[in-house]
Amino acid sequence: MKRAPKNARRSRTAGASRPRPGRARRRAPGGRKVAGPRAAATRATAALRGRAGRLVPVGEAEVRLVVNGAEVRRTVEVRRTLADFLRENLGLTGTHLGCEHGVCGACTVLLDGQPVRSCLLFAVQATGHEVTTVEALGTPEALSPLQQAFMDHHGLQCGFCTPGILMSAHALLRDRPRATEEEIREMLGGHLCRCTGYQGILRALRAAAGLPPNPVH
Ligand code: FES
Ligand code: FES
Repeated sequence: MKRAPKNARRSRTAGASRPRPGRARRRAPGGRKVAGPRAAATRATAALRGRAGRLVPVGEAEVRLVVNGAEVRRTVEVRRTLADFLRENLGLTGTHLGCEHGVCGACTVLLDGQPVRSCLLFAVQATGHEVTTVEALGTPEALSPLQQAFMDHHGLQCGFCTPGILMSAHALLRDRPRATEEEIREMLGGHLCRCTGYQGILRALRAAAGLPPNPVH
C-alpha cells in the first residue's frame, strides 16, 4: 500500500478541520465571515473607549426650542428624553413620568400644539419646535377654565395623571370646543388613572365642553 508523503496536507474532509460543536463559524451567503454577537458587543464597547482606555461620555448636543413661549437653549446628552429635559433641565415638574414607555399618558405635553408622549421623544428631536406644558395653562391663583372644571367636579384624586389629561383635553377643546361625550371618552382612552376616578374626570370634561351633567353619574 502506498503511503502518503510526510508533509502532505490533511484532507479538508479530515476531522481536524471540522468546526467543533458550539463553535461553528458564522458565514453570510457568499462565504463572508459574520461577527458573532460577542464580537459585535466588544467592538461597540471599544468605540466608546478613549485613548486612555476609559469609558468616555456619549455625545451631547445643543437643543434649541420654545417652551411655554420662552426660547430655551441647552446642551444635553443626545439620549435625554424630552420629559427628563423638561423636568430636570428646566425644572418644569408638572409633566409627570409614569410608565416611561408611552402607555399611561402622564407625560403628555403639546409639541407644536399636538399632544405627544414626552417620554418617547428625545429632547434633541424637539429642536426648532414649540413645547407647551401644564405650567402654561394657568396658575394656582388663576386656573384655566379646564383646571377649574377639574376642581369643581372632583376630576382628580392624587393628581398624578392630571397634567397629562389636562394637556390632551386642552388640545381637544381648543379644536372642538363643543366636543361630544364620545370624543371626550376617546381622548381619555389614552390616559391611565391609577386612582380610577374616571367619573369625576368625565364630569369635569363634560362641564368644560358645555355638556349637561350626566344624570346617571
Ligand atoms: S410616562 Fe410617558 S406615557 Fe407613561
Ligand atoms: S388621580 Fe391619581 S392617578 Fe389619576
